[in-house]
Amino acid sequence: MVEIIFPGKIRKQYQFLKLTRLNVSGNLKNKRDKCLIFRQEVTEMIECQNISVTYNNGVQALKKINLRIKGPTIMGIIGPNGSGKSTLLKAILGMIQLTGEVSINGVSSKKMLKKVAYVAQKTLIDLSFPITVKECVALGTISNVGLFKTIRKGEWKKVEEALEVVGLKEQQERQINALSGGQFQRVLIARCLVQDAEYLFLDEPFVGVDMVSENIIVKILKDLKESGKTILIVHHDLSKVEDYFDQLVMLNNKMIAVGKTSDVFNTNNLKRTYGEKIFIDGGE
Ligand SMILES: Nc1ncnc2c1ncn2[C@@H]1O[C@H](COP(=O)(O)OP(=O)(O)O)[C@@H](O)[C@H]1O
Ligand SMILES: [Mg+2]
Repeated sequence: MVEIIFPGKIRKQYQFLKLTRLNVSGNLKNKRDKCLIFRQEVTEMIECQNISVTYNNGVQALKKINLRIKGPTIMGIIGPNGSGKSTLLKAILGMIQLTGEVSINGVSSKKMLKKVAYVAQKTLIDLSFPITVKECVALGTISNVGLFKTIRKGEWKKVEEALEVVGLKEQQERQINALSGGQFQRVLIARCLVQDAEYLFLDEPFVGVDMVSENIIVKILKDLKESGKTILIVHHDLSKVEDYFDQLVMLNNKMIAVGKTSDVFNTNNLKRTYGEKIFIDGGE
C-alpha cells in the first residue's frame, strides 16, 4: 500500500485507501481528478485470507478461513459451541494472534479499528461497573473525542439521539446494573450508534434478551444496513437465521459454508456444521 500525502481534507479522507500501482507523481492535474481515481480504488470489504488461530493451550480454534464480506449486509455466524465464532470476530478485530491476513477496506485491520464497533459476548462484560446509561453510551464517542478530552455538547446530543433510537431516553440517568438484560443490550447498541462505525460486530447479542428488546434491536440493525452498514452477528437460534441474515457463515473451526442465507442454510450444511443429530423446527 502506498500512502499519499495531500493537502488538508483530501489527505484525511483518502489516506487509508488501497492505492497500489498508482503513479502519484504522474499526470494528475487537480484534486478532483485525484479524488475520482481514488474512489475507484476503494475496497469496502472485510477480507480474511487463510486465517488460522491456535490458542496457547494448543486448541486450534480456526483453520484456514477464507472470507470476503462485502457490504452493506447483515451476516450471521453460526456453529456449535467452541466452533470458533467469537474467535473469528476477535481475529478480524486484530485482538488475537493469527496466521494469515485480515484486511478491512484493503488495509491491515489493526489500523481500521475506528471503523468497527464491537459488542463482546455478554459473559465478558462487567455489569457491576458503577456507571449510568448515558455515560455508558458516551464511551462510544471516545474514539472520536479522545480519551482525555471532555465530551462536548455535540457528542452528548448524539448520545441522547442514540438512546432515543433504542427507546431508552427516559432511562438515561439510571445505573446500568439496574437494567434488564434486554435493556442493557440496547444500551450497548446505542454505544455502537454514537461510534458511527462502518462495521458492527455483535457476539450473541440476543442471549438473555427479552423478545421486545430483540425485536427493537433487529429493527435497528436492519435500518443500519439500509443506511449502508455491514453487520456481523454471532448467533445460536437457528429458527431466526432466515429472518435475520442476508448472508451466513457456517463454522465448525473450519469454514463449512458461506454465502447468501437462501443458498447455504440447508440440511446438508447444517449436518456438516452441527453433526448428524441436528434437528430444527421439528423437521426431519
Ligand atoms: N483465550 C482462550 N484460550 C484458550 N482457548 C480458547 C480461548 N478462547 C477460546 N478458546 C477455545 O477455542 C475454541 C473456540 O472458541 P470460541 O471462539 O469462543 O467458540 P464459540 O464462540 O464458537 O463458542 C474453543 O475450543 C475454546 O475453548
Ligand atoms: Mg462465543
